[in-house]
Amino acid sequence: MSASVANTPLVGFAYRRHYRAALHEAERGPDVLELMAETFDPRLPGRVDDVRALRERYALVGHSVGLSIGSVERPPQAYLDGLARFVELVQPRVYSDHFAVTYAGGRDLGHLTPIWYGEQALEVVVRNLTAARRLLGVPICLEIIAEPFALPGAQWDQARFAAEVWRACGCGIHLDVTNVFINARNSGQCPRAFVAALPAEAVQMIHAVGFGRYEHGELADTHDEDIQQELWDLLAYTFTRVRPATAVIERDGNFPPYASLLAEVDRMRSLAERPEVAP
Ligand SMILES: [Fe+2]
Repeated sequence: MSASVANTPLVGFAYRRHYRAALHEAERGPDVLELMAETFDPRLPGRVDDVRALRERYALVGHSVGLSIGSVERPPQAYLDGLARFVELVQPRVYSDHFAVTYAGGRDLGHLTPIWYGEQALEVVVRNLTAARRLLGVPICLEIIAEPFALPGAQWDQARFAAEVWRACGCGIHLDVTNVFINARNSGQCPRAFVAALPAEAVQMIHAVGFGRYEHGELADTHDEDIQQELWDLLAYTFTRVRPATAVIERDGNFPPYASLLAEVDRMRSLAERPEVAP
């Protein structure tokens, strides 16, 4: 596939306070910033001014972790109202949460728990998405999560479930290539096969960050490493198949210098513009 400038993704990184000064002051910056709803509550001091200043320089997209799209039980209304306030403030081009359950039994689980992929869960997710779209008023994508375990007896895998949600209600897929790589490596599967199983036109957002390792050797989504060569290769393959609107690096720790993070952004952009597949 040859990419034209017109449909090259906006490439950037997830806003973290560590980079706040550089983002406001540096000459160069990313094309796009991803803002977390849980961080950018407009009632917190300084957030409204921050967002206004960032929006003058960067395209903004929104992200959250607590929508619990796969659970019958809904998160507290106060949390949902907070998401709506965030969207009103940030006016993101697109918004994403996860294929996950994060709220059950009246409590926040504090973790992205896998959905029991199948027809019953599909019905729940479509119903919750309809309500979330009504609440937020922006396009919502759902992100492929790192799965520390698979729920036994599930009808489908995560790729099939994402494809079914897309077919059922046109919900875009936020493809986290690092999560795909971690899941595949930890379970002895092929990460490219997972990417190939997704409907290409559904993939509207990309996430990537270097993976970490547990002591026993399995890969972990620690969000604190530079993107490794295996991931660059998977990204290159992915960009030959999909034309997302955004591609975002989500670093949460062991923060590299701003210039190094921008170098990763530049490398991602050049891959997106000229995707070449490593053997
Ligand atoms: Fe992610």
